[in-house]
Amino acid sequence: MNEKAAVGEKAAVDYVKDGMVVGLGTGSTVYYTIVKIGEMIKEGMKVQGVATSVQTEKLAEEQGIPLLTLDKVESIDVAIDGADEIDHHFYAIKGGGGALLREKIIARASNKFVVVADSKKVVQKLGSFPLPVEVVPFGVRKTESYIQRFGCQTVLRMKGDTPYITDNGNYIIDCTFDVIANPKQLEKDLNNITGVVENGLFIDMVKDVITINGDKQAILLD
Ligand code: A5P
Repeated sequence: MNEKAAVGEKAAVDYVKDGMVVGLGTGSTVYYTIVKIGEMIKEGMKVQGVATSVQTEKLAEEQGIPLLTLDKVESIDVAIDGADEIDHHFYAIKGGGGALLREKIIARASNKFVVVADSKKVVQKLGSFPLPVEVVPFGVRKTESYIQRFGCQTVLRMKGDTPYITDNGNYIIDCTFDVIANPKQLEKDLNNITGVVENGLFIDMVKDVITINGDKQAILLD
C-alpha cells in the first residue's frame, strides 16, 4: 500500500465512529480517507460529512457520504485533512490544492483536527513548500507587494493563461521563503494585510498527525 493510502485509511478507521459529523479535507492523501469512509457507510455506519472544497463535495457524493453545510451542523466531531508540510510543533502549511480557506474554517469548527501526511511532508522547519496566500482579485499586485515585505518571493498562481480562481472566487499568491523562522507571527502578519483573505499556515490547530515511520507503518507522530 502506498504511504498516502496507509495514512489516509488509518485516519478513517481510528477516528471516524458511528453517528459522527466529519470534516472532509481536500487532496490526494485525504482522498483515501474519504473512500474508506464511503466503504464504512456501505457496511452500515452512519456518518455525515462537511466538505472543504467543491472537489471533495463531488468525491464524497460519489462515495455515498451524506453531506451537510457548515452552518447546518451543531459541531464537527473530527476533521481530517492532508498537509503540504508539517513540523514537530504540529504547525502546518496547507493550500497546495488551493482549498486553504474552507479547510481552515472547517478545521477551526472541529472538535479535533487530524492531519494525514506521508513521510515527505514531515519537516524540521516549515518553508521549503511555497506558502499559499488567498487574496481578493481587486488590487492583487498591490497586495502582492505588501506580502513581499515579509521577505518572500511571490508568484500569482495561474491555471493556463489566467489566474487560478479558488472556490471562493479569489486568487492565490504562492510565497517562497528561505525558511519560515516564526510561523506563528507570520500567520498573523499576513492576515493583517488588507486584501489578504487567509494564508496557509495552520497554527495551534492540529491535534494529531498520522504519518509513516521507518518501518513503513502508519503511526501517530509524537
Ligand atoms: C488543499 O488545498 C491542500 O491544503 C491539501 O490538503 C494539501 O495540499 C495536501 O494535499 P495532498 O494530500 O494532495 O498532498
